[in-house]
Amino acid sequence: MDKNAEIRYQQAEKKANQYFNTLYQSVKEENYITALIKDINSWKQHHIYHSLFPFGTKAKKKAHTQDYESYIKWLNYTGKLNQYLDRSISYIFMRDLGKDLTSTDTQVRIQNVVTSLKDHLIQTTSNDKNEESTLFSIAGLYRWGQKEGIESTIIWLIDKLKIVSKNLPEGMDGTHARRKLLKIIAGVVINEMEEMESNLLPDDRSKKLDTAIRLGYAYGLTYPFIDDLLDAKVLSDEEKKRYSTIIRTSLLTGSVAPLGQWEGNNKELLEFIHSELTDAFQYIKNQQSKETLHSFFEQSYVFFHSQEVDRMKNLSNETYTNEDLYIPIVIKSSSSRLIVRSLLRAPKDEDIDNRVFYYGIYNQLADDFADMFSDMEEGAVTPYTYYLKYHKQRNDLVNPFALYWAVISYLIHNVYNSDSKAIEIILDRAFNGLKRFKKKVGSKVYEEVMETFAVGNSRFTQLIQKMVRKADDVDFFDKLLRDHMVTNLKNEQKEQEDFSELIDEVRTKINNFLHINEIDSSPIIDAANYSLNGDGKRLRPIVAWMMGVKEYGLEEKAIFPLLKSIEYMHTASLIYDDLPSQDNASFRRGQPTVHQSYNTAVAELTGLFLTQKAVVEQSYLTEFDTKSVLKLIQYSAESTMDMCKGQVMDLESRGKQLSLEQLNQLCFLKTGKGFEAALIMPSILANVDEIQIDALKRFAYHAGIAFQIKDDLLDVEGTLNLLGKSVGKDAENNHSTFVSILGVEDAKKEMWEHYCLAMEALQEIKLKSTFLKQILNYFVQRER
Ligand code: IPE
Ligand code: IPE
Ligand code: MG
Ligand code: MG
Ligand code: MG
Repeated sequence: MDKNAEIRYQQAEKKANQYFNTLYQSVKEENYITALIKDINSWKQHHIYHSLFPFGTKAKKKAHTQDYESYIKWLNYTGKLNQYLDRSISYIFMRDLGKDLTSTDTQVRIQNVVTSLKDHLIQTTSNDKNEESTLFSIAGLYRWGQKEGIESTIIWLIDKLKIVSKNLPEGMDGTHARRKLLKIIAGVVINEMEEMESNLLPDDRSKKLDTAIRLGYAYGLTYPFIDDLLDAKVLSDEEKKRYSTIIRTSLLTGSVAPLGQWEGNNKELLEFIHSELTDAFQYIKNQQSKETLHSFFEQSYVFFHSQEVDRMKNLSNETYTNEDLYIPIVIKSSSSRLIVRSLLRAPKDEDIDNRVFYYGIYNQLADDFADMFSDMEEGAVTPYTYYLKYHKQRNDLVNPFALYWAVISYLIHNVYNSDSKAIEIILDRAFNGLKRFKKKVGSKVYEEVMETFAVGNSRFTQLIQKMVRKADDVDFFDKLLRDHMVTNLKNEQKEQEDFSELIDEVRTKINNFLHINEIDSSPIIDAANYSLNGDGKRLRPIVAWMMGVKEYGLEEKAIFPLLKSIEYMHTASLIYDDLPSQDNASFRRGQPTVHQSYNTAVAELTGLFLTQKAVVEQSYLTEFDTKSVLKLIQYSAESTMDMCKGQVMDLESRGKQLSLEQLNQLCFLKTGKGFEAALIMPSILANVDEIQIDALKRFAYHAGIAFQIKDDLLDVEGTLNLLGKSVGKDAENNHSTFVSILGVEDAKKEMWEHYCLAMEALQEIKLKSTFLKQILNYFVQRER
């Protein structure tokens, strides 16, 4: 195997060398220029508009490309959406799928994708909901999974993405890593969809998609956890060496090399990565057949090795040859996409492989061009940074910008046989890249860059610059999507962090005033405080605080009594729930339950005491008008009555086979009501209208049930240590829960269904902050 991989690398080097030489000759002889001038001149007919209005009314109306939704709307409004999507999808078909655009089959497929994407976009951007398009949300992903019959796969993926996010080290760009991983998975899935026969049975389609997603994840993981990790400054040089030896050995031997003892700060990180990559490796291995397995590993080795060779370069080395600079990147840029077909065991297709091979370097040079300044800062060697640094002293260095155009000419004329559509799309892309760069760095820097990388032929240079200034309709959906995703992921990350900080803050506040101070001490007050002092999450008063203070701007101090009353009622419900006559649990909130620590009679009376204490607190809501407070007290008492009904239904469900409807009803009453109360009581004080109240109730219904299903799942999957309460109680008591009725897997599906419904309910509610979304995410993703 060792040998074969080496040979394979040499073959790749040879092919890359030939390609590079062709390009190099073309740069030397400048013969790409003549051809391109002709291409660009005919291309510009469709991209430069001679407006009848000299002051450019057109430009004024143009929506900002940054704003994803209004841009799509604008494109649709101006009738440009079709053309825009067509060039974007065609581009993906060329670059990622290695397709030849002249085939009618490909054209039909592109048209189909364009039509369905267009429908989707028009639909998701036309409603005025303040939620972002389903394309970017967990709920959207899950809904898609349902349509394709792969709910379990999506649930698996959501869990995986969460674990990866949690384990990304500080020194790595998390947004970037997550975006890339998602992109790779999407790429593999798209590839698989393209390979599918149209008459595939739904079950087979689901199976294939399941495999593609898992393979995409397995392969995608190597981007953050191998390439990016080795690029980042997280590991020491010594560690990097050791780590890359492990990867190399694994690829060469076809089985994962052990991590061994790892000392120091990165121990935990590497143990996590190693175990996750081991699973990924094993999954990919199992999916390959005997015949394809070796070839797959060889190819992976070629990819990995080319990255290593490229990575080892040092910007202070003055003596790299053009070949040193370009061969590894020709190999790595093509391998990353060639590997996808082999990952999926797609039938060998030399034409596709060739097209993908030649395309790779185009992308690499476009990306390296865009990133030249940040690469320079990091001291990374790319053709651009190296040229920037050494071009004055080394006139043998090939100008990467000239080579970039030579690649374009090669692709147009040699790979795509001067096909007009290919010319159109490749040039659109090329000019779009330059326009984006100019916008990013500003005209002045742009001009300097153009001077440094001038190709020497002034007619060509002028033509290019004119196109960059004047060409229109050259932008692409994948770029819009990319920008949108980066913004989204960043915002989400920030929102999440702010949210965690805020709830910690609010929890501390709440903990500080829960304690019951009465002059005369009594065992019952002791027991109440004992229970309140336990390690509760305080979710209900937190929700009420968020609604009251953040949403409605109520004065914090004024609603303290409300927050207390909410937690008192909830705590009482837990004391009852744990009683021997109910769930008979001995641990709660990290300590023995009240009836264990005191006795059953004290526990029962403490429960009653706390519910009454809650009413007393509510009567202290003196800053609000009495009518509202009375309404609140009435609502509150009714909620408690409903919870009692729910608990009885729960207890009577022992050994019974409840229907889904009954289960929903039970969970809504025993758990959902508590969350509903936390949302509704502040709304009553704020005199919110009935429409809002109804929408909040709809949200609470689904969020509450999702919370309870997660609780049922934790009862089987969690530990006493983690949860701070007894586990396995439901099974022990023979309770009818989502888990006992549906099994773990289907219970999870039901939980995500309620999650989606809650998210959808949320879209009807106009809120200032995103905390309900955050709290809902927390409900289903929590570990305690
Ligand atoms: C437990 O509620 C009872 C259920 C409704 C499942 P929590 O999980 O919110 O319990 P604490 O308040 O954090 O202890
Ligand atoms: C409890 O449901 C619902 C209440 C409102 C008390 P569980 O019985 O599943 O709650 P835990 O698991 O004991 O916290
Ligand atoms: Mg119970
Ligand atoms: Mg219980
Ligand atoms: Mg439970």
